[in-house]
Amino acid sequence: MNLKEEFVRVFGAGGEIREYFAPGRVNLIGEHTDYNGGHVFPCALTIGTYACARRRDDRILRFYSLNFPEAGVLESTLDDREYRKELGFSNYPRGVIVTAAEEGYEAEQGLDILYYGTIPNSSGLSSSASIEVLTGYILKDMFGFDFDGIINAKIGQKAENSFIGVNCGIMDQFAIAMGRKDTAIFLNTATLRYQYVPLVLNGVKILIMNTNKKRGLGDSKYNERRAECEEALRDLQRVTDIATLGDLDEEGFVLFSDSIRSQTCMKRARHAVFENRRTIRATEALRDGDLEQFGRLMNESHISLRRDYEVTGPELDALVEAAWEQEGVIGARMTGAGFGGCAVALVREQYLPVVMDSVGRAYHDKIGYDPTFYIAQTGDGPSRIG
Ligand code: GLA
Repeated sequence: MNLKEEFVRVFGAGGEIREYFAPGRVNLIGEHTDYNGGHVFPCALTIGTYACARRRDDRILRFYSLNFPEAGVLESTLDDREYRKELGFSNYPRGVIVTAAEEGYEAEQGLDILYYGTIPNSSGLSSSASIEVLTGYILKDMFGFDFDGIINAKIGQKAENSFIGVNCGIMDQFAIAMGRKDTAIFLNTATLRYQYVPLVLNGVKILIMNTNKKRGLGDSKYNERRAECEEALRDLQRVTDIATLGDLDEEGFVLFSDSIRSQTCMKRARHAVFENRRTIRATEALRDGDLEQFGRLMNESHISLRRDYEVTGPELDALVEAAWEQEGVIGARMTGAGFGGCAVALVREQYLPVVMDSVGRAYHDKIGYDPTFYIAQTGDGPSRIG
C-alpha cells in the first residue's frame, strides 16, 4: 500500500508529507513486573504502526486510521486537552500531544496524521504504545524537539496513565522507543538502566500465538492487579525497608510475606517477586547460550501468571498447555497484560509447521475457534522512512 497516496486521498495534496514507522513489541519474560520495580525482557518487532504526517498552518488536529475507516477523519484542536470518547483511537495521539506539551514540548501548529497499523488489535503486542511512541517521534521530527527515546517512552506512558486511564508501566513504550533488531532489552524498571542482549537463538524461532480473544475487561482488571500489588507493598513496608516489590528476592519474600494481610495480595506479590528473579536468571541463561533453561523459566512464568496472578484465562492456558506438549517447543508462556491476547513460545525451526498445526487443532477443539500464528522478526525503534 502507498501510504502517501492514501494520505492525499484523505487529507488532500500539498505541503511536505513525511512518513514514519514504530514497531510493536513482544515480551519474552518479566510480566507484570514493570510497575513493581522489577525487570522486563521485551524486544521490538517488525510489525508496528506506519504514519504519514503534515504540518498545518492553524491549530487544528486531524487524524485518520486506515484500520478504522468507518470512524472517518477525527478532528480536534491543540487547545482541547480533554479525553473525548467520541474521538475514538485519536485519543492516543491526542494524549501524547497534550502530555508532550505538559512536559514543555509544545506543538506550535496543528497536524494531519494518517495511521496504518499491522499489529492485530487487542493482541497484547502493544498497538497502543506503538501509536503513542510513533506520535512522540513525529512531534520530535516535525517540531525539532530535543528529546531522546527514553523521554519519548515516558511521555507515551504518561499519556496512557493520565489521559487514557490505564495505569501501565514503562515496558511497552520503552521496548518500542528503544528497540534494536536482533536484541532484547533487559530493563530494570526501577532505575531505567538497560542493556541490549543479543538474541542468539541458533535455529530457534520466536513463535507468537494469538488467542484471537478480545481483551474486553482487561484494562480494569489490570488496574485492579496493580492496586493489589500496592496493597501488598504497603503491608511489607511495615516490616522491611523496601521501595518496591522488585527490592525483594525469594528468601526475603518467604521471610516477610506473613505481613501481607490479604491472601489475594500475597499471591500477587509472590508472582511479582519471583517473576522478577526469573527474568534476571533467564537473561543470564540467554547470555550463557542456555536456551533450555530460558525455556524452563518461561514455563514457570506462565504457571505463576496462571496460579498467583490469575491473568491467563482458558484461551491462553489452552494455547500454552498445548505448546508444552509439542516436541521442539523449548518454552511457552502468555505475553503482555493477559486476559486474552498472545502467548509466545521458543520453537526449533524444523518443528514449526507441526507445532502450529497441532497447537491450532488442540486450541480449536477446546475453545471453538482458531488461533493465529506469527513467526516474530525483531526490529528497530521508531524512524522516519520517507
Ligand atoms: C501491559 C502494560 C505493561 C506491562 C504488561 C504486563 O502490556 O502496558 O506496562 O505491565 O502489561 O507485563
